[in-house]
Amino acid sequence: MAYTRQTIAPEEIARQEEICARIAARLCADGARPLAMVDTYGCQQNEADSEKLRGYLAEMGCGFTSDEFAADIIVVNTCAVREHAEMRVLGNVGALNHTKKAKPSQIIALCGCMVQQEHMAEKIKKSYPIVDLVFGPHELWRFPELLETVMTRHKRVFAADKNDGAVAEGIPLRRDGAVKAWLSIMYGCNNFCTYCVVPYVRGRERSRLPEDVAAEAKELVAAGYKDITLLGQNVNSYGKDLEGGVDFADLIRMINDIPGDFLIRFMTSHPRDATEKLFRTMAECEKCAKHIHLPVQSGSDRILKLMNRHYDRAKYLAEIETARNLMPDLVITTDIIVGFPGETEEDFEETLSLCEEVRYDAMFTFIYSPRVGTPAAKMDDPFTRADKQKRFDRLTELSNRISGEKHAAYEGKRMRVLVDGETGKAEYNLSARTNGGRLVHLRGDPALIGQFIEVTITASNTWALYGKIV
Ligand code: 5AD
Ligand code: SF4
Repeated sequence: MAYTRQTIAPEEIARQEEICARIAARLCADGARPLAMVDTYGCQQNEADSEKLRGYLAEMGCGFTSDEFAADIIVVNTCAVREHAEMRVLGNVGALNHTKKAKPSQIIALCGCMVQQEHMAEKIKKSYPIVDLVFGPHELWRFPELLETVMTRHKRVFAADKNDGAVAEGIPLRRDGAVKAWLSIMYGCNNFCTYCVVPYVRGRERSRLPEDVAAEAKELVAAGYKDITLLGQNVNSYGKDLEGGVDFADLIRMINDIPGDFLIRFMTSHPRDATEKLFRTMAECEKCAKHIHLPVQSGSDRILKLMNRHYDRAKYLAEIETARNLMPDLVITTDIIVGFPGETEEDFEETLSLCEEVRYDAMFTFIYSPRVGTPAAKMDDPFTRADKQKRFDRLTELSNRISGEKHAAYEGKRMRVLVDGETGKAEYNLSARTNGGRLVHLRGDPALIGQFIEVTITASNTWALYGKIV
């Protein structure tokens, strides 16, 4: 094969599955049914990784529980993107002292982005002796082997060395839902935005082969999934590491050609390489949802440069214009960081004005969180947390107002939505999504879950739409 990226040989995955069988024999001796719990933090990529962890655990004979006292194996899949996520993980892992005391045979594993950072792995080693196993995102494919070492050698195992990463096909998956599915198309990130820890913990960009992605998409459609989200840290650079010239737009088209009634979504696009070809493909492919999540991070050219984003405000706005010309009803969402080091009041005003100009359907806003080892963490930052909080509150207010106005414009409209679950509330017992991904609450028969239906939007607020089945 002419591909350059590192792959894990299929025999290696087969060996991991043999280990799963050995672990099952050990755990299920005398008819016991071991229980596992997988606790996931962070982004959709982590959700997708947890489906692999559950796939392996199911092959080890485990059932699943959300009760940490009942679990024989606990895996915490961590996030490192902001300090807040790390604090939550450490707090919850600390609380597992009680469960392990009550059940000394319990095995506690930590994996994912947080523990791929050297200083965090060290901290776990020193201060969290209840943790038996630590492994980074690159070692996920050999989780069974690592777990078996813990079980047979009765020692703590740490596997989170520096690594560019590889691609492993054929890991068993246990998916969470029956309507929506994650489909990883690539791993890692090469962008090195100055605030972001991801490139350090998830390694270099590497794409799955188009035929592997298409085969998995076909399986999903055959299994009845109606909403498939293609995942990557930056899907727009899909294929750049492969020979054969298939880019992300081509991949969408390949999946669009699979017969069946389903939606294709994707996350996340970097504005640096969102091309007109991509927007044209989205417009032309009837199964591609008319939604793009295009994180702008800041509206100030000065800050965008300091962030190493490789686009400016004008380029970003031109992309939005191109996309909207091709897809007038396109839903656009974004991520914004408030309080990047040295962000002045003027810089922040530029962000506000950009948001007014674009009028996002929804915005995900974050206060800048310094990350160990990133360039931004060493930059001068004269503004206080209180200054940043004030800006954050102003941005939230703006975001809520615009979302509310956008949602109000849906009232009275008739639209096709995909019913995706139950809400647990009596009045509006079902949840659904519009083609653009907006949340709709409905009242109806739970048997509709998994179906596309027509609704009329009757009411709305900042966060959701309310509809009546036609
Ligand atoms: N501080 C705050 N927000 C961050 N993000 C990434 N790194 C940081 C950080 N250090 C945000 C970005 C990104 C989203 C997933 O998280 O907005 O798009
Ligand atoms: Fe968290 Fe980012 Fe890692 Fe996802 S990729 S788990 S958001 S650090």
